[in-house]
Amino acid sequence: MRVIAVVSAKGGVGKTTVTANLAAALAQAGAPAVLAVDLDPQNALALHFGADPHTLSGVARASLAGNAWLGTRLPGVVPDHGAQAPQVLPHGLVNEEDRLAFEQQLAAHPQWLAGQLKGLNLPADALVLVDTPPGPSAATLQALAAADHTLVVTLPDAASYAALPFMQRLAQAYGSSHAVAEGPVYLVNQMDGARALSRDLSRVLHEQFGERLVGRIHSDESVREALAHGRTVLDHDAACEAAHDYRQCAQRLLAWLQPSAGMPR
Ligand SMILES: Nc1ncnc2c1ncn2[C@@H]1O[C@H](COP(=O)(O)OP(=O)(O)O)[C@@H](O)[C@H]1O
Ligand SMILES: [Mg+2]
Repeated sequence: MRVIAVVSAKGGVGKTTVTANLAAALAQAGAPAVLAVDLDPQNALALHFGADPHTLSGVARASLAGNAWLGTRLPGVVPDHGAQAPQVLPHGLVNEEDRLAFEQQLAAHPQWLAGQLKGLNLPADALVLVDTPPGPSAATLQALAAADHTLVVTLPDAASYAALPFMQRLAQAYGSSHAVAEGPVYLVNQMDGARALSRDLSRVLHEQFGERLVGRIHSDESVREALAHGRTVLDHDAACEAAHDYRQCAQRLLAWLQPSAGMPR
């Protein structure tokens, strides 16, 4: 099992969208067992897979009740075209009391996520993508600690760019020894080739991170439409630009995840 924490300092950059669509793209690309886990109390990840937004079941309530996470798997995530689909563990809808209790549980047991993931008994070649809340929440710090790889999502704008060092410091301080030794990889979301600033920042990020920039996803209305329909963009509009970008990003990640290759340094 390889765990990838999907993180960012700022909210609204596309972590949840990236987790959902990249998980779908990885599964479609033939990754044997892909699991997407939602640690964000906004509970948005499952919406990309058609879940009812009022569903209570998820990792938060299961954790508070002492139940296994496997029972919270979203049923019936079946993509069109007969392609393979990821499994999804929703966060679940929580009231304020439960949200705080789960956060406290995570803070009190720093290895909680790692233990739960281990308890899933996934095959060695399984890939787990963990969606996180923005910034240094207990859930984000756990995800960093439990992950073998860190994927930092950023927008091609000045505010996101300025926030990158903060996320890098968190990854360095809380990441697993493997993830720290390897260093994070980056994905630029919502690229807009028609805007000079977007082009410039994308170029700057490419110069700065080189091969570590594993994905560039264009801003694409189909991504927003897909969410409104409760499906990933790969299922909603397989021919659109963003679906192409996600397939390309999945291929790059899979190439780097080959046992001999390792992530780009
Ligand atoms: N490539 C994209 N093109 C267009 N809209 C996007 C794209 N990626 C994300 N979005 C939109 O941006 C908003 C924020 O995305 P979200 O995944 O919720 O961010 P986060 O999880 O980081 O808070 C959502 O409305 C989402 O639909
Ligand atoms: Mg989110």
